Amino acid sequence: MARTTLFLLTLALIGPYLYDRYLGISSVLSDRPGKLKSIHNIKQHEVKVQDRIRNCEDVGLAILSCDPGRDRWNTVMGSFHPELGIASGALYIYDYSNPGLSDDEALKSLTLKNFNVDDFHPLGIEFDSPTSTLYVVNHAQSGSAIEVFNLSIKSLTATHIKTFKHPLLHSPNSIHSLGSGKIFFTNDHNLRASLSPLLSKIETWSGIPGGSVIYVDLNDPSTAKTVARVGFANGITMLNSTTLAVASSSKPGVLFYHVTPDYSLQYKGLIRVPAAVDNISVDGKGKLLMAGHAFAPELIKVAKRRAKCNFESEKEEERKACENGAPSWVGEWSEEKGLRELYKDVEYGSSSTAVRDTTRGLGMVVGLYERGVFVFRE
Ligand SMILES: *[C@@H]1O[C@H](CO)[C@@H](O)[C@H](O)[C@H]1NC(C)=O
Ligand SMILES: *[C@@H]1O[C@H](CO)[C@@H](O)[C@H](O)[C@H]1NC(C)=O
Ligand SMILES: *[C@@H]1O[C@H](CO)[C@@H](O)[C@H](O)[C@H]1NC(C)=O
Repeated sequence: MARTTLFLLTLALIGPYLYDRYLGISSVLSDRPGKLKSIHNIKQHEVKVQDRIRNCEDVGLAILSCDPGRDRWNTVMGSFHPELGIASGALYIYDYSNPGLSDDEALKSLTLKNFNVDDFHPLGIEFDSPTSTLYVVNHAQSGSAIEVFNLSIKSLTATHIKTFKHPLLHSPNSIHSLGSGKIFFTNDHNLRASLSPLLSKIETWSGIPGGSVIYVDLNDPSTAKTVARVGFANGITMLNSTTLAVASSSKPGVLFYHVTPDYSLQYKGLIRVPAAVDNISVDGKGKLLMAGHAFAPELIKVAKRRAKCNFESEKEEERKACENGAPSWVGEWSEEKGLRELYKDVEYGSSSTAVRDTTRGLGMVVGLYERGVFVFRE
């Protein structure tokens, strides 16, 4: 009797956990190479400026953060090869809405003023337009930070204002600005890959809620507080004035929270998606856009192989190391219409962010290990 009770109790505790992991892992395995059924719920698409930029992570306001150094220095995926030499990242403005410009003219690099770019490895960026403030997650080798710039789009210059470091900022990934220096940001892991690659991987695959969401007013660092714990917390954005959405790459899915007046979070529920969702954004009609990885193990393979990548090399081995076979996945969600898959394929791989300009009926996707920007129309 006692035994039966104990058994049931254990099952009750561990059952939901196993089911959760089953959902997480089965969706990821059904899209293994050779089994991938591509999805193209979009009318047309084109990859632009692929000879100019690669490893971009962001298309917010068509400001792009690109880091060719990611091949050898990726604190999220656990690639650490400083001995091979690490290229620096850069920020760009992509003026996609001006039909008079050629693709090459449309892409302009930003000058970073009062800032040393030698150890610059940008990931998530966020632009607060009322104050022209640009927040940039920097995975510098000397330690992760959030860099704050004053951006002048007209003069294509971002002037450095300050570097924010804090004990609660240890594996920063994405930022959402609430205005006037107040932000939410995610830490993707608790166990940083730079401290222990193995433990960090266990954290990823077990679905342990090791990542976190942090609130801070950058004008007063003492306000920093952990407001949620989320397994592999990734993209973060307000869905509307009261609901915050946070992507969990290990769930995988998107979690929703009610934001209280003191910036605490109350969990409201989640949606599951059939891919390791990476970043999220909200379009002009309030729809949630998601980009992620249809088969995460392939992304891990690409991340490993990339350390040797050299597009211009005479050695075939080094050129082959640049191949990106990690399938992309893009989807959208709204409360009324539910989940709709938009794109799944390997042609443009490792998708990490999708955004949509609803007034022009045009969407853009960037890939973690991909060249150029994927532009689609619906
Ligand atoms: C995710 O997407 C948003 C919206 O485009 C962007 O501002 C943010 O920087 C992105 N985060 C990462 C880690 O790419
Ligand atoms: C940013 O630059 C503009 C123009 O140079 C200036 O008016 C504004 O005060 C600056 N903002 C901050 C936060 O430094
Ligand atoms: C925000 O979005 C959530 C999820 O779709 C919805 O339940 C909530 O009513 C919305 N709130 C507002 C203020 O629009």
